[in-house]
Amino acid sequence: MIGKIIGLGSYLPDKVVTNDDLSRIVDTSDEWICERTGIRERHISDHKVETTSYMAGVAAQRAVADAGIEADTIDLIVAASTTPDTVFPTIACSVQKAVGASESCGCFDVNSACPGWIAAFLTAQSFIESGRARRALVVGAETLSNYVDWTDRGTCILFGDGAGCAVLEASEGDPVRSIMRSSCVRGDCLYCASMKQPDRLDDEEFIKSTYFQMAGRDVFRFAVTEVPKIITDVLNEAGVSSDDIDWFILHQANARIIEATAKKLKMDLSKFPMSLQGTGNTSSASIPSLMDVMKRDGRLVKGQKIVTASFGAGLTWDAAYFEY
Ligand code: COA
Repeated sequence: MIGKIIGLGSYLPDKVVTNDDLSRIVDTSDEWICERTGIRERHISDHKVETTSYMAGVAAQRAVADAGIEADTIDLIVAASTTPDTVFPTIACSVQKAVGASESCGCFDVNSACPGWIAAFLTAQSFIESGRARRALVVGAETLSNYVDWTDRGTCILFGDGAGCAVLEASEGDPVRSIMRSSCVRGDCLYCASMKQPDRLDDEEFIKSTYFQMAGRDVFRFAVTEVPKIITDVLNEAGVSSDDIDWFILHQANARIIEATAKKLKMDLSKFPMSLQGTGNTSSASIPSLMDVMKRDGRLVKGQKIVTASFGAGLTWDAAYFEY
C-alpha cells in the first residue's frame, strides 16, 4: 500500500505586503526584488490570530473537506514547521483539535526547515506502507515573518506566511521513490539561533538571535547545484525519464533557482509551476499550498506523474517521485 493524495487545502493570511510596501521600510525596489527573485508580494499574518497552529488547522480543515472524509477516520497527523508557536504541544496536536480527529490518531511534528513537508510526506508514507496508518494528514505551516529582521533587505524581501495540507489514503500503487540529503558542514549559510519567547520581546540582543541569518549567494549556489542533481537521481532510481513527468513541483523560494533547475534538466519551464510571485518563500508550506492551487485550477489531475523537490537550512534537500 502507498499513500495517495485524496485531498488538499491551504491558507494564506489576508494581509498582503507588496514589494513597493517593502521599499518604504528598507532600501529596495520592486524592480530589484522581481528581477532577483520573481517575488511580487507575500502574505503576512496577523500574529495575534493567524498563528502557525491556526493556519495549519484551517489548511487541514480545507483538505479534509476536499477529501470528503470523516475526521474520525484520520489515524495520523504529521506537521512540518520551523516556526511553531510553542515548543510543545505540537502543531499536529492543534490540527487534531481543529479537524476533530479522534484520540486514536497519532500526532507529531517534524522540523527539517523548508524541505520539511517532503520529510513529513515520506514519514507518513512509511506509516501507510507498513500498515500502521490508513489515512494521514501531512501539514506544512509557517509564520516566517516572526523570524525576519524587517530592517535587513537581504532577507525580509524573500519570505511569507501560510499553510498547506494533503490528505493521504492507503491505496494500491507504485511506491513513492525518494532521496533525502543533508550537509551540516555547509549549514552556516542559513540559520536561526533562537525561538521567539513572548517574555523576552524587550531584550534586544535576544531578539537579534531570533532573526534568520543567511548568506544568500551561498544558498543560491547550493540550490542550483544540488536540486537538479537530486531530481536526476530520484528519476534514475524510479527508472522514469524526465520527459514522462507532468509536473516538477519545487520549493517556491526563488524563480531564478527554478529556472536554473529547469535549464540544467533540459526541461521546459512550463512544467515547473510557480506560486512564489504572490506568496514569497513560505518554507514547508510552499509545496502543499502550490499543489492545492493547481488542483483547484485544474492543472493537477489524477494519474499525473509528479516530481517534488525542496532545499533549505541544515543544509537539507530532498526529492520524491510519485503518481498523483
Ligand atoms: N534590494 C536592493 N539591493 C539589495 C537587496 C534588496 N532587497 N538585497 C541585497 N541587495 C544588494 C546587496 O547589498 C549588494 O549590493 P553591493 O553589490 O553594493 O554590495 C547587491 O544587491 C548584490 O547582493 P547579493 O546578495 O550578491 O545579490 P544576489 O544576486 O545574490 O541576490 C538573493 C540576493 C538573496 C535574492 C539571492 O542570493 C537568493 O535568492 N539566494 C537564495 C536565498 C534563498 O532562497 N533562501 C531560502 C532558502 S530555503
